[in-house]
Amino acid sequence: MRRKFICGNWKMNAPLWEGEVPKLPENVTVAVAPPFTELSRMAERLDGTGIRLAAQNVYFMDEGAYTGEISAAMLKALGVEYCIVGHSERRGYFGETDGDCLKKIEKLAEHGIAAILCVGESLETREAGREFEFVEAQVRAAFTQLSPAAAKDIVVAYEPIWAIGTGKTATSQQAEEMCAFIRKTIADCKGAADADSVLIQYGGSVKPSNAKELLGMEDIDGALVGGASLKPESFMDIVCYQED
Ligand code: PGA
Repeated sequence: MRRKFICGNWKMNAPLWEGEVPKLPENVTVAVAPPFTELSRMAERLDGTGIRLAAQNVYFMDEGAYTGEISAAMLKALGVEYCIVGHSERRGYFGETDGDCLKKIEKLAEHGIAAILCVGESLETREAGREFEFVEAQVRAAFTQLSPAAAKDIVVAYEPIWAIGTGKTATSQQAEEMCAFIRKTIADCKGAADADSVLIQYGGSVKPSNAKELLGMEDIDGALVGGASLKPESFMDIVCYQED
């Protein structure tokens, strides 16, 4: 039985996130990814709540003359346990490639930080009927190359670009179909045992009103939540989706 994993992605926003954090459900792992500058404050804020700390990006070198970059060791020192890699905004605006993602995932694994690898197609690609081919290539680019150690703890997030921040959610069938396909692709690359245990999240306009249906699907093991994670109340409603 795979645990559910729900992670908030604040992007370039820094909400205060004040108020009580309720007791987390036993069978759900919860994390929040604030901007780098908020990691220390959030480490203190989340202490004792059970909510884990995630980062939104990392650089794959250890140290040196890389102005503006942050290493995996630096994240580890702040208590970061997860790191988003290859988000479509980073791929689109900052030219992050599959090759960069691979190096980042390996470096994170060296420091015991689990990568959350984002994959997902644009509207244009889906309308051309090429969404499976596109996502398969992204998944294969990582899983055919990853070392067994790095593949063991990785989380994959299926985030169709057309559903991110648009209020337009993939239907639970569309999301399940792609998450099952991603699992099958991982099985092809790494074998059924690894594919069976890897956590696959859905992301793209997840909110309290659709969380239960999405998270009830067999191959959807969690959610990567952008907009709805900025307010602790709505994020916690998603985390506690089983209580409705
Ligand atoms: P959204 O963002 O929930 O605001 O659509 C999700 C994401 O980009 O991770």
